[in-house]
Amino acid sequence: MTAGQHGISIIGYGGMGSQHARLLTGLGANLVSGIWDIDRNKRTAAEAAGLNVYSSFMEALNDPLADLVLIATPNHLHKEMAIQAMQAGKHVICEKPVTLNSRELEEILEAAGQYGRLFVVHQNRRWDEDYLTIKKIYDERLLGEVFHLETRVQGSRGIPGDWRKEPEFGGGMMLDWGVHLIDRLLLMIGERVKQVYCTCTYVTGEQVDDGFRLLLTFESGKTALVEVGTSHFITLPKWYMCGNAGTAVIEDWEMNGRLVRLRTREGNDAKPIAAGAGLTKTMAPRNDETIEELELPAVKASILDFYRNVFDTLEGKAEILVKNSEVLRVMKVMEAAFESDRVRQAVPFE
Ligand SMILES: NC(=O)c1ccc[n+]([C@@H]2O[C@H](COP(=O)([O-])OP(=O)(O)OC[C@H]3O[C@@H](n4cnc5c(N)ncnc54)[C@H](O)[C@@H]3O)[C@@H](O)[C@H]2O)c1
Repeated sequence: MTAGQHGISIIGYGGMGSQHARLLTGLGANLVSGIWDIDRNKRTAAEAAGLNVYSSFMEALNDPLADLVLIATPNHLHKEMAIQAMQAGKHVICEKPVTLNSRELEEILEAAGQYGRLFVVHQNRRWDEDYLTIKKIYDERLLGEVFHLETRVQGSRGIPGDWRKEPEFGGGMMLDWGVHLIDRLLLMIGERVKQVYCTCTYVTGEQVDDGFRLLLTFESGKTALVEVGTSHFITLPKWYMCGNAGTAVIEDWEMNGRLVRLRTREGNDAKPIAAGAGLTKTMAPRNDETIEELELPAVKASILDFYRNVFDTLEGKAEILVKNSEVLRVMKVMEAAFESDRVRQAVPFE
């Protein structure tokens, strides 16, 4: 079987559903079996893009040409739709955040077991080049022993759209962006999370968080700051990673950044410098004799590999890359983060 022998019904043809349709059509001419969206305008747009449009959700679920259903509706609909699709015999690709909480995901996983279907979450930001570059630096120990890292996204436009502002739709930035940043971090560090401390922000006055600052402490003692903000007119680096032999930074989406690391621990005869109203030797900058600056070891990637992995898994040729146990763990970290915000204290985790 090849990609050409699979068919996918896409549910929800908004921002993300239409992006899936574009990518999948590029991957295989007949991969998209059809589209269902509750909004007539979206269905008209899908037709205009040359796509087959169903007349109901049930028609989408019963399309014999589709073996997969891709759910790209607002977050609160994922659980029911996923379970119905698997009950109808389809495998499911579901948008993130998979559900509103871990309990809902457990219900889905039970149904996947009961109906013997593949259920996989579109954690597409595992294929972001900034993440893969930082991961390479981490995996290859280019900074020595990493003791702290920071991962963040910041904008200044508040929470976008309509449903993302509403608690009952699964709105808020923890579920929207936190789910990506935490997922990648846990995957990269591969250690137990011992403690979670989080403060959510409500700067824009919505009922859901418009950002948060989350500090995770891992088993080895290393810490990670995960930060999302929507009222930041000057942004901090997307990634900042500190090891005992160097520091790496990725500033922005354009992959501007650098890596500075020790050449040698010899010759570190720092002299005091004038600093503000005093002197400092501890904080004196280094000279080029003991450090070197390197370009980031940029890693290229294609999100099409996400879909290819799903097809290969269905054909028994690969193991699924986005594992449900990983997704469930991320949901639980987010729940611990909300709990920490509520009680204004760090909470123990694993
Ligand atoms: N992985 C990513 O990078 C990424 C990016 C954006 C959004 N998302 C996720 O994708 C999902 C959709 O987000 P979006 O930004 O496309 O939202 P959107 O509002 O642009 O689109 C949602 C679509 O779902 C349709 N819809 C609503 N109720 C429906 C129903 N009962 N049946 C059929 N269609 C229905 C709406 O009419 C709309 O067209 C969310 O879960 C979101 O978190 C993921």
